[in-house]
Amino acid sequence: MQVYLNGSYVEHTDAKVSVGDRAFVFGDGIYEVVRVVNGQFFMEDEHMVRMDEGLAGLKIHLEKDKKDKIPDIGRKLISMNNLENGQAKVYIQITRGSAWPRTHTFPDPPVEPTIYLSAEPFTPHKDLHEKGVDAITLSDVRWSRCNLKTVNLLPNTMAKQEARDQGVNSAVMIRDGVITESPNANIFGAKDGILRTYPATNYILNGITRQAVLTIAEEEDIDVNLQPIGEHELFDMDELFFTGTTTDVQPVVEVNGRAIGTGKPGPVCRKIQEIYNEKLAGGE
Ligand code: PDD
Repeated sequence: MQVYLNGSYVEHTDAKVSVGDRAFVFGDGIYEVVRVVNGQFFMEDEHMVRMDEGLAGLKIHLEKDKKDKIPDIGRKLISMNNLENGQAKVYIQITRGSAWPRTHTFPDPPVEPTIYLSAEPFTPHKDLHEKGVDAITLSDVRWSRCNLKTVNLLPNTMAKQEARDQGVNSAVMIRDGVITESPNANIFGAKDGILRTYPATNYILNGITRQAVLTIAEEEDIDVNLQPIGEHELFDMDELFFTGTTTDVQPVVEVNGRAIGTGKPGPVCRKIQEIYNEKLAGGE
């Protein structure tokens, strides 16, 4: 696959970053994953806004003209890799750049940020959307700035692997007695037709798919309560589902071996799934 690194388009096996790169030694960078359908970037503006917030949150300064070129670099990769038809995803990573020697303080004077993009084909998890998935509860051990989409993903990868090791699909993470999110998706519950999800604070990533679902709820007159779901309320929920760029709207039918609701995907999730899939196909 052709990827983009710091001004050049190269084969992914030829793309090399320095050992001094701040993301390599400190995890000092941010990323975005954007869904692309038939060459159309889904919710591109929202991704760019969040990327900007991430850069600001980490105090990484990227010149405006470089930032503005990022969506077009993604589009060029889609075309170079023959991904204009069907489903794909674009990965964008920006790090503080490369500096030597290793010091905790930021390079002074500042260095050029590292800009990396890739584009890959994507296959939606249709069977999981249909049947739903199982999960375990795990403690959310992440830092308190989860709203920033940084490449520091160790707690997330550890949690996802723990789920895999326990033979289930994913994890429902719990902080201070309430459900926050999964290692790679947001979580919604439904009770008596009302949606529940964690509010967009520093303890979750404000997912672009989460934002799309909240818009759908508004359009469809589905009430939303931005009150976190308590761990003790989990099995009182009629429905539970994950949302994310690579997850779409995915029912969660079992947690810790116990059924959620009927143990089958429920009507609220199905309705949102249907409308979300239409929007995705329409490239809105
Ligand atoms: N993950 N929460 C976390 C912790 C995530 O990592 C993600 C996405 C989401 C959903 O956000 P969005 O709807 O914007 O994709 C929520 C990406 C896809 C990843 O790490 O690959």
